[in-house]
Amino acid sequence: MNDQLLVQRTGSILELTLNRPDKKNALTLAMYQQLSEALLEADSDPQVRVIMLTGAGDCFSAGNDILDFIAALDRPDAVQAPLKFLQTITTVSKPVIAVVPGVAVGIGTTMLLHCDLVIASDQAHFQLPFVRLGLVPEGGASLLLPQLVGHRKAFELVVMGEAFNASLAADLGVVNRVVEHGKLMDVARAQAEKLAALAPDAVRQSKAMLRRGQQEQLQQVLVAEIEQFAARLKSPEAMEALQAFTEKRAADFSRF
Ligand code: COA
Repeated sequence: MNDQLLVQRTGSILELTLNRPDKKNALTLAMYQQLSEALLEADSDPQVRVIMLTGAGDCFSAGNDILDFIAALDRPDAVQAPLKFLQTITTVSKPVIAVVPGVAVGIGTTMLLHCDLVIASDQAHFQLPFVRLGLVPEGGASLLLPQLVGHRKAFELVVMGEAFNASLAADLGVVNRVVEHGKLMDVARAQAEKLAALAPDAVRQSKAMLRRGQQEQLQQVLVAEIEQFAARLKSPEAMEALQAFTEKRAADFSRF
């Protein structure tokens, strides 16, 4: 497995670490594929009881790799790898603990909605900049966020798209617990140990029961969102925003 995803098992806890810190762990199509494979493998490995997902270099993930997106714009499979990852993380039967040491942007935040416990550093911050990029939300956010925080707050997070800190993320219910930065991994591993010591079938069945009310709807929304997202990627608004990112300038939507 490529070293952009580190996979390490300690006892019954599998740690997956996004490992592209020079790009803030932005996710390439290859990384999505590796993540999907690692999650599926962990789910079928009887030695694994808990999956931890974190990022190297004091960041969680800056979301989709924008350059990768631009390069893949004309490929019909451009959104297949992210979709497969989302379908996998939303259906994995074992508990997933996300450990957020720093920045979590775009799908870096929306994937947290599918994790079972989210533990964040007090230095972490979160952002859903889809509309700022001329795009629309993905990752089930259009369904789960309004349920979690109500329409107005969801609108603010998705449409205004400003960054928010760990304390607000905890207040909104996106994060379970905010931890002093230096203690993050110790606290997260202690939680993972506690979870791994519980009756594994009871944990999995309980997780499935908590999810089943809207699993079917969520799977439909993931597909519908990604289709709309893929169409938006080719829109003049998104083109301007993606180009602006590569040129390190603010996007200018005044002509639209
Ligand atoms: N895609 C591709 N490259 C990315 C990236 C992304 N999503 N996020 C960060 N990077 C790259 C930057 O271009 C930069 O590369 P460079 O060193 O070659 O110039 C490097 O990662 C470091 O990022 P930088 O912006 O210098 O770090 P920062 O600490 O000032 O800001 C972020 C971090 C995450 C807030 C900022 O990089 C950002 O907003 N990124 C875009 C995130 C985004 O919009 N994601 C959603 C995509 S749908």
